Amino acid sequence: MVLNVKTQTDNYNIILQRGAINRVAEFYDTAKKALIVTDSGVPFEYAKTVSAQFSNSIIKAIPQGEKSKCFDVYKDLLEALCENEFSRSDCVVAVGGGVVGDLSGFCASTYMRGIDFVNIPTTVLSQVDSSIGGKTAIDFSGYKNIVGAFYPPKVVIIDSDVLKTLPQRQINNGLVESIKMAAACDKDLFEFMENNDLYENVDKVIEGSLKIKKYIVEEDEKEQGLRKVLNFGHTAAHAIETATGLCDLLHGECVAIGMLAFSSPSVRARLTSLLKKYNLPTEFDFVGDTILEALRHDKKSAGDGVNVVFVNEIGSFEFKFLDFNQLDDAVKGAYLK
Ligand code: GLY
Repeated sequence: MVLNVKTQTDNYNIILQRGAINRVAEFYDTAKKALIVTDSGVPFEYAKTVSAQFSNSIIKAIPQGEKSKCFDVYKDLLEALCENEFSRSDCVVAVGGGVVGDLSGFCASTYMRGIDFVNIPTTVLSQVDSSIGGKTAIDFSGYKNIVGAFYPPKVVIIDSDVLKTLPQRQINNGLVESIKMAAACDKDLFEFMENNDLYENVDKVIEGSLKIKKYIVEEDEKEQGLRKVLNFGHTAAHAIETATGLCDLLHGECVAIGMLAFSSPSVRARLTSLLKKYNLPTEFDFVGDTILEALRHDKKSAGDGVNVVFVNEIGSFEFKFLDFNQLDDAVKGAYLK
């Protein structure tokens, strides 16, 4: 399947094909010089496979994890581009998950005022969500994604065969972003998810998610309105991450829990049963007022409350302002046993 995404100034293709990682030249000009960025958690053979298809390329493997989305690693990549005399007609290729994609995209967006960026996502989370829509960033001065740019890729190449090497927990972690999009935007996809095995139907899940994401980012590329729906579950997730001091839960797992606070009781019941099927957490060891404190300090908080995405019925959503008392009720209603 090929989906074309229109941006304010251009357009790009998303290729969803098994084996596509072996056929990069069908989708992009591999005569260009390429800086291929991967991380230590991604099987190195994927970067090597991509590298072998470019006539001139170097591979940079960064340490796995969010800590690499920082100024120092960004600087290392820029140095690699300078030292190897990359020109304006060369490219940066990400082969990895969300951290690799965000960092490489930002590097491509700023080197020589912008060179081509190709994204080859290798995790479920990046295949269904973060590789699409042109968000690139690094973390800085204690703030997540605070320095970045909207910089659409030239092409996104998604090969679900690469998911075979992912640990099960990482697969489930990524599925949360698809469940999130279906819960808020696509009743049919959500019902499909309830009635079918997502591991056996991973291409359909990726395709369904990409169609939702394409629609959203074409309507609202720069997140002025509609794109905020993708924050469903994230407001509480960030509060959980802050309140627990980055507990041992993965981000998607926090989003799974986070969706439950801002759903009607019937939606919460359906989400809970779907999440449980994929060993995703649905309960949270409520730590007094700490999560509420973190919500009060959320960057989306406005005066005496917080703007949240609320799902009353599967397939639809509303943007809602909850004052701190309503927030208190929502969070305690979802998590306090
Ligand atoms: N992952 C959220 C967004 O692309 O807006």
